[in-house]
Amino acid sequence: MCSPVHFEKQVKRNSLTSPFPQSSPPSTPTPTPKSSNNIILAVPLNCMEPKPEYGGSDPMETLPEMSDPQNTAVLAYPVQANSQSVYQRTMYPITLKFEEVVYKVNLDRKESCWGSWTSREKTILNGITGIVSPGEILAMLGPSGSGKTTLLTALGGRLNGKLSGKITYNGQPFSGTIKRRTGFVAQDDVLYPHLTVTETLFFTALLRLPNSLTQDEKAQHVENVITELGLTRCRNSMIGGPLFRGISGGEKKRVSIGQEMLINPSLLLLDEPTSGLDSTTAQRILNTVKKLASGGRTVVTTIHQPSSRLYHMFDKVVLLSEGCPIYYGPASTALEYFSSINFSTSMTVNPADLLLDLANGIAPDSKQATEQGENAEREQKLVKETLISAYDKNISTRLKAELCDANNYNYARDGSKRHDMKSEQWCTSWWHQFKVLLQRGLRERRFEAFNRLRIFQVISVAILGGLLWWHTPTSHIEDRIALLFFFSVFWGFYPLYNAVFTFPQERRMLIKERSSGMYHLSSYFLARTVGDLPLELALPTAFVFIIYWMGGLKPEPETFIFSLLVVLYAVLVSQSLGLAIGAILMDIKQATTLASVTTLVFLIAGGYYVQQIPPFIVWLKYLSYSYYCYKLLLGVQYNEDDYYECSKGVMCRVGDFPAVKSMGLNHLWVDVAIMGLMLVGYRLVAYLALHRVRLR
Ligand SMILES: Nc1ncnc2c1ncn2[C@@H]1O[C@H](COP(=O)(O)OP(=O)(O)OP(=O)(O)O)[C@@H](O)[C@H]1O
Ligand SMILES: [Mg+2]
Repeated sequence: MCSPVHFEKQVKRNSLTSPFPQSSPPSTPTPTPKSSNNIILAVPLNCMEPKPEYGGSDPMETLPEMSDPQNTAVLAYPVQANSQSVYQRTMYPITLKFEEVVYKVNLDRKESCWGSWTSREKTILNGITGIVSPGEILAMLGPSGSGKTTLLTALGGRLNGKLSGKITYNGQPFSGTIKRRTGFVAQDDVLYPHLTVTETLFFTALLRLPNSLTQDEKAQHVENVITELGLTRCRNSMIGGPLFRGISGGEKKRVSIGQEMLINPSLLLLDEPTSGLDSTTAQRILNTVKKLASGGRTVVTTIHQPSSRLYHMFDKVVLLSEGCPIYYGPASTALEYFSSINFSTSMTVNPADLLLDLANGIAPDSKQATEQGENAEREQKLVKETLISAYDKNISTRLKAELCDANNYNYARDGSKRHDMKSEQWCTSWWHQFKVLLQRGLRERRFEAFNRLRIFQVISVAILGGLLWWHTPTSHIEDRIALLFFFSVFWGFYPLYNAVFTFPQERRMLIKERSSGMYHLSSYFLARTVGDLPLELALPTAFVFIIYWMGGLKPEPETFIFSLLVVLYAVLVSQSLGLAIGAILMDIKQATTLASVTTLVFLIAGGYYVQQIPPFIVWLKYLSYSYYCYKLLLGVQYNEDDYYECSKGVMCRVGDFPAVKSMGLNHLWVDVAIMGLMLVGYRLVAYLALHRVRLR
């Protein structure tokens, strides 16, 4: 990835009416602005920023060239300062081509009772071809399970596994640049439940719009999107989640669309944007999509049961049946095509209904739709086979020729722009991403952070422990040592269980946002872990304050402060291990199981329960950070040459007490260093494991 770029900005502020700055006309050969109400902004070439309308007929020709060979040059172009800015014409039109796309998955099956596994391959997509040009909307139709989402995911560069065929964007393969110019609205909405609609969109704007726009300008874009998508009524409502009600499903969908509209994408991929919406809202959403497309964007959408009104808004249609294409072409000629191969209907029907019937293997005017049984199934299979072979005969060859022409045309033209497609830069700086992610994390977890149950848990354990160890006399050395061991166990393991959930819970969000190149993984990782620190450190501090004094441990201030620091240090190490386990497994159930096994092993090997560990397994205790924490707490509290009253009138040396003797209180700095290594090492493992999270 490239380092953050610096933007040069030439803005004249208009402080009177518009929140957008205004300026004189551009001096570089930029597209002609249609409105005089424009500003010139210099932005990195591949940052997605709302673009102005351009006057030229061919967007590729009007694209300004970079002046700097290092790809850190700036590009001046006007940003329109009106409320219609979400529809500004894109400066980077993308022609999307997909040829013979085949996708297979392995299905593992247990064969016998002895548990032998065999692998069977399932073809999800079977040779799908098409081309979508800027300004066009391609709709993917097909019954549930026909492969629409899979194809859309492949087109968005987010499908891993056995994908073959060729998918190109202006003749180039998928790249980071394309990633940042692509808006992808997934079928399931992945949103933070505790943020409001405005907050959700605003944080997205802060992360995805370039730094060359001020915060006010980003806020203005959010306002435009909220108005355009009719979200004004619920703008201050929380998104909601499984445990509490928030905005409606349709509103969530619109928020997801809004998140992608904000960045003015050149390629917009929408997975069922209208499912679950009433027909008026669905129409409204598609109107918005249509307007976006007419700004030079390439739009691909999957859709279930569009009304005929919606159907006629599409330019092209791909009809899928069990992963095989049975129609590709203009939406307006689909009925004509099917009647040419003897699948015509005498009734006036919604074309989408007829297409879906055919994709299900139900011929028009047949009674199969209501019939069930072997006969009907056989007939449906026959219809599907007929349609697939008709596609191969009538459409496939023509399509290949069309694509071949387009290939020649595009490669020739894209040659000069190739360097642009290769460049990959971040729209915002690392520090900016860190700040926004930290702020967003704190807002999202504002209820969780001061979760009363957690505070109650910790304080009640501290008070109960304090009462049990109430003012333990110095002669009761076993009890005092047990109290120190309790410190190391409680704060060695409690944070681990909290941290284990961190990354598995955020998995879907992380995948979604990283797939669109929103931020560096390191900025996310640090923001997420730093955000948790205040509470993670506040609770043990309160705990130690209560139990230390109630338990009557050494009253010297430095001993108390060192004991507190050792506990906080152990908290950080334990949190690191929890993060690593969570990030490696990315599954809450598996992660908690592994965490409980690990804690149990570390607990036993911690040096308190077994004082004479057999030599062949003694290494285990050196892996346990609770061993180091316990040893440090002992070392802070006692000196080997201290004395205590072991029986009436008899003083014994602390260093000779078996529990202390077996630990030894020397070389405490080595223990501090080893814990430091664990702290850094576990976090590094967590970070590397997150890198491996598959972007799907
Ligand atoms: N990784 C996978 N492993 C096994 N099966 C898969 C996998 N991915 C997809 N499938 C299967 O592929 C088929 C197509 O899935 P896909 O989600 O693309 O369907 P769809 O057309 O989007 O359906 P819907 O309209 O219900 O959303 C389904 O039968 C699904 O079960
Ligand atoms: Mg789907």
